[in-house]
Order: sequence, then structure tokens, then C-alpha cells
Amino acid sequence: MYDLVVLGGGPAGYLAAARASSQGLRVALIEKKLLGGECTNWGCIPTKTLVEVSESFHRLKLMQQAGFSLDIKSISWEQLSEYISRAVWRSREGVKTLLSDVEVIEGFGRLAGPRRVKVETTGSVRDLESRYILVATGSDPRDIPSARVDGEYVITNREFFELKRLPDSITVIGAGAIGVEIATALAMLGREVYLVEILERPLYFTDPDVSAVVERNLRRLGVKVFFKAVTKSVEIVDGVAATTISLGDGSVKVLKSEKVLVAVGRKPNVENIGLEIAGVEYDTKSGIKVGENMVTNVPSILAAGDVTGPPQLAHKALREAVIASDYIMGYASPPPRTPIPQVVFSHPQVALVGLTEQDAAVASVSYKVFKFPYVALGRNTTALAKSSEGFAKVLVSDDGKILGAQIVGNEASELIHVFCLAIAKNLSIKDVADVVYTHPTYSEVIGEVASLALGRPMHIR
Ligand code: NAI
Repeated sequence: MYDLVVLGGGPAGYLAAARASSQGLRVALIEKKLLGGECTNWGCIPTKTLVEVSESFHRLKLMQQAGFSLDIKSISWEQLSEYISRAVWRSREGVKTLLSDVEVIEGFGRLAGPRRVKVETTGSVRDLESRYILVATGSDPRDIPSARVDGEYVITNREFFELKRLPDSITVIGAGAIGVEIATALAMLGREVYLVEILERPLYFTDPDVSAVVERNLRRLGVKVFFKAVTKSVEIVDGVAATTISLGDGSVKVLKSEKVLVAVGRKPNVENIGLEIAGVEYDTKSGIKVGENMVTNVPSILAAGDVTGPPQLAHKALREAVIASDYIMGYASPPPRTPIPQVVFSHPQVALVGLTEQDAAVASVSYKVFKFPYVALGRNTTALAKSSEGFAKVLVSDDGKILGAQIVGNEASELIHVFCLAIAKNLSIKDVADVVYTHPTYSEVIGEVASLALGRPMHIR
């Protein structure tokens, strides 16, 4: 009898298993493919490695402004993909180390009852019994009827990182997080990129003033963007993918590229894992229903990560793993469910936490909004890749509480955490303004926007 059996070795599964085993619980983890799941193998780690490389390449080109003449003759995709694979390998090895006291079983696991899991491994079927089961089976990329993934011409982020050569041209369908990050990186590496989005702008979850900065920079990098664009079909003609799209004005265009990347969202992995047999409630779109402490309607079965629905982000999965494992270990007070930030490694970066203006409008929350531009920061004047269009924006309630923050600009992915802390700890905008921020740093944008919100602006008139 195990204390915990975990289905899935992504961020939610491996962290819960590692934490429970470190406290002496007997834990088994079942993984059908690769430890680390989507994040380590096809998502966060390879994408951010690619972004790091392409941003560095972009900066090298900008160094010409500072008197450097550089002659980069070619990019070896073979070496670049090997470099990315090494980062992935290191991340996976880290996961393996964390799981050193966990029995890791390679195979496909299915629930067989409230406390039972059946695992198909090569050549055998094992029956496991456990006090608790955690379902952390993640999510799979979706595709659309007009662009079915064939794994060769029409691909997802998964096949992208297994390509044998860097495509000269690519059509990206979907300008969400994946689409924008990969389109940006490839444009920086000098590829021809088409970006096709059904809505009227990229990064629909940000406010329009934020996405406008990203859109302008995508165009500046040479990405050909099409909004309000419906993909009609993808046909392969003489080894070239021809994507037919129709635009808002009724016109039709055919985009020819080597590959088509479909990035239109993900679906939770709820099928064929025995949820019905164990009596666990779920929905094919929004995933497994969980209550407090990540417990499903079956008291011995918990769920965490992408399989519990949006936002499908690794750090949400990690937090849910902590909540679930704390509950299983009997800790009295699990960590609270504070707002989940989101970051996009676009150019410039985007980060947000709490309410956006569009959320506030939907929820009829009253707020005041304040914006401070990067162009007024001392640090921005020193930067090679200046972000003159960037800004930090904060939504403040009538009684001075921070409702939400969005940052678009250099280092946004790091800066947002000051606002995460402030919101999680219910700090006021005055508390944020009271801190001394080092000069010259991008962090000053936080103090500046907070001072502005208090009616005591500093470097702005
Ligand atoms: P997403 O939900 O971020 O974006 C999908 C985009 O595709 C949306 O803009 C949507 O309007 C568009 N779309 C949907 N159907 C379409 C169609 N038929 N034609 C054209 N456009 C269409 O999903 P994405 O980018 O696939 O990412 C999946 C998940 O992974 C998301 O939850 C995302 O937040 C997460 N992720 C997070 C990252 C980060 O935190 N930096 C990076 C990459 C992914």
C-alpha cells in the first residue's frame, strides 16, 4: 500500500511526489513519456532557451549602434537544437534528482477505483493501491479542423523542438503565449514569419494598450501579422504548406511557408485515464473539478496542474502541487491561492497579475489606473535594446489597494513579482511607493508608478 500514487510527471506531479517522499511517505509516480512533462521537454525550458538565444542575437545586431561591426555568417540549427536539448536534459536530470526517493514507473496509468491505479508497462500490468491518488496528467495541444496537425508540415510546439532544420519560413496560427514567443524568436533569427490570429489583437488576456506594444514590435521585427483572420485550409503543394486565410474585409490570402505551427490553446488530458471508473467529476473542456486543497469529489483522489483547467501555467501547477501535497501530509495550513501571474517572453516582455482593465470592466469593479513609461527611466537610456514604448500600469481601488498590474518592457518577467507580493499580502499602493528602488534599474518603474498613483510623481510631469 502506497501513501500516494501520482499520475503524470510534469510540474504538478513531480513536485507533489518529491515533497511527499521527502517527508517519508511511500510514493510512486507513473509517467508515460518523459519526466518534467510539457514544461521541461517542449514548453518553458526549450522555448525560453530559444528566446534567450534569439534575444542575444538581436542584441548583437543592435551593438552596431555602439560601434561594433560583427559578421555572423550562419546559424547551425543542428548545434542550436543540441544546445536547447542540453538545457532540457539538465532540467530533466534536476527532476530525477528530486524524485530519488520516489518509485518512478514508466508506463500508462489509469484509475481503477478510489484507491487503485492500474499501470501498463512494457509487457506487464501492475495494480497499485494507495491512500491517496493525485491526477496530474496535464494537457495536450489542440488543433483546428482547417489545420490538422500531421507532425510534418503542420506541427505544434512539441514537433517544433524536434525539427531537423530551422525552417526558413513559418506560419504561426494563434497569437497567444506560444504563438507570440515562437514568432518573435524566429523573426529575430531572420526567418520569414506569418502570424495568424482570429481575434483583433495578440495576447488577448492583456489590455489592448499592452498588446499594442507587442504588436508594433512584432511588425518591426518583420513578422507579417494578420488579425481577425480565419484559417480556411492548409494544403501541401510540392513540399510547401499553403495556408488560406480570410480576413475581416472579406479578402482571402494564401500564405506559403515551410511549416505551419498551430498554437490555439490546449485541452486537459481527462480521457482514457479511468476517471469514470473511479467516479471523478470532470469536463472535457475545463478539466477535473477540484475543491479546496485540490481534492476532487472522491475524497481520496486529488488533481493538480493543467488537468484542472486554466490558466495552464507551470507555476500554477507547482502551487497546486504544494497545496495537494501539504493536504496529503496533513499540514494544518496550506499556502493560500494567491493571484497567478502570467508572463510572455515577447519583445518586449509582458507580465501581469491580478485584474486587467478588461477584467475589471467585466466584473464591474471600480478602479483608477496609472501608467509610467519606460522612456522616463534612467536605466532605459543606458540600454542597448531600449524599450521606449514600455510601461508599467497599475489598477488601484478607491481605498488604495492594488487590484492588478501589467508591465510591458525590459525585465517585465522579473519586475512583476513585486506586485505579486503586494497583492498576495494585501499591501497598499502607498506601501509599494514607500520602498527605495535602486537607481538606475528597471525596478524603479514600480516605485514611479506607485508614486504617480499616490499623486506624488517623481520623474514625470
Ligand atoms: P493561448 O490560449 O495563450 O492562445 C491561443 C491563441 O490562439 C488565442 O489568441 C486565440 O484567440 C487563438 N486562436 C484560437 N483559435 C484560433 C484559430 N482558429 N485561428 C487563429 N487563432 C486562433 O494558447 P497557446 O498559445 O496555445 O498556449 C497554451 C497554454 O500554454 C496557454 O495556457 C499559455 O498560457 C501557456 N503558455 C504559457 C507561456 C508562458 O507563461 N510564458 C508560454 C507558452 C504557453
